[in-house]
Amino acid sequence: MSIDNLFVPLQLGKMTLPNRIVMPPLTRMRAPLGVPTALSAEYYAQRASAGLIITEATSITADANGYPDMPGIYTDEQIAGWKEVTCAVHKKGGRIVMQIVHSGRTSHSLYTADRSLPVAPSAIAPASGQAFTPEFSLVEFETPRALGTDELAGIVESFRQAAVNAIAAGFDGVELHSANGYLLDQFLQDGSNHREDEYGGSIGARARLLIETVDAVSKAIGPDRVGVRISPHGNFNDMHDSDPIALFSYLIGRLNTFGLAYLSLIEPRSSSIGLAEDISIDSANNAQLFRRMFNGPVLSAGGYTAETAGEAILAGHADAIGFGRAFIANPDLVSRLMSEAALNKHNRSTFYGGDGFGYTDYPVLEQQA
Ligand code: FNR
Repeated sequence: MSIDNLFVPLQLGKMTLPNRIVMPPLTRMRAPLGVPTALSAEYYAQRASAGLIITEATSITADANGYPDMPGIYTDEQIAGWKEVTCAVHKKGGRIVMQIVHSGRTSHSLYTADRSLPVAPSAIAPASGQAFTPEFSLVEFETPRALGTDELAGIVESFRQAAVNAIAAGFDGVELHSANGYLLDQFLQDGSNHREDEYGGSIGARARLLIETVDAVSKAIGPDRVGVRISPHGNFNDMHDSDPIALFSYLIGRLNTFGLAYLSLIEPRSSSIGLAEDISIDSANNAQLFRRMFNGPVLSAGGYTAETAGEAILAGHADAIGFGRAFIANPDLVSRLMSEAALNKHNRSTFYGGDGFGYTDYPVLEQQA
């Protein structure tokens, strides 16, 4: 059966995954002052049987924040909080990497200490969608301030330091969030990057900030502990590009030179899944389009069932599959898929913010029996 393919071990850089069922990054907004709590450690440890856990998007600096109670990895308290998480996961035999992010234009001046505008490649606000305030309400996006060329080395350095901090906190690696319309993705795509310096214009120039970041982070912690997530064809946060195939083909060619742990692709059919149950079956299939271009392992996520996940692996379109909403609702997803048991349904109203309700209280099979 095709789902048997999910239970074949997989090597990702230094990590050996016992199965190919990945918990992808899932923002949950439950880290007051950016510090993960004991509840976060419990939540992740409950899911330690995943082949790999990738944390929720975590801010590289205070100014990189874009969501209320979003965790960070730039203070000693945050590093200590994350240490509890990695210890709890490792104690249960799991593997965990941290997704690191700069929110760019999706942030808001409410998050910066001096109320300065969010930053971006160009002064272009997303035309659709809204920003979350620190109080969990929604407001219009602001027009961001375009970063000066002389500021970009500082962005790269912040990613490098965040990666070093993540390793100090006990993570097995880091994933650079270059998807879903956050800063690195904003530089890649020409809908959000209208720059006229060496970081805008041609595809090579738009990819420059990400490539410099991959290079700096790889040199700091080793390329075999670095993954990169991208979302070609995705429209979340009003992203668009005039030629996504050319852009992402070029980018993957450049990423091939580093020997990275993995490349992670988000399927555009699930682009807005963080906001609504909306799977669009007509969109491009990134796993089919791009997998063959990358010379290392590829993760794919977005609207998979156990059956379609097994088929994607069998067809060679991906090496491991992320199950987002299913992992929120099923801490024991791996054993449920293995025994073909029914899955708990997720409760969307508890995705963002709150306490253990809808976070650590989803039952495992034995509790339901
Ligand atoms: C997400 N997703 C996401 N992606 C990412 O790269 N960083 C993040 O922090 C988040 N946060 C997030 C929160 C919530 C509540 C959802 C539902 C999704 C996208 C996620 O990793 C995955 O790609 C999608 O959930 C698609 O997979 P499923 O849910 O269709 O299996």
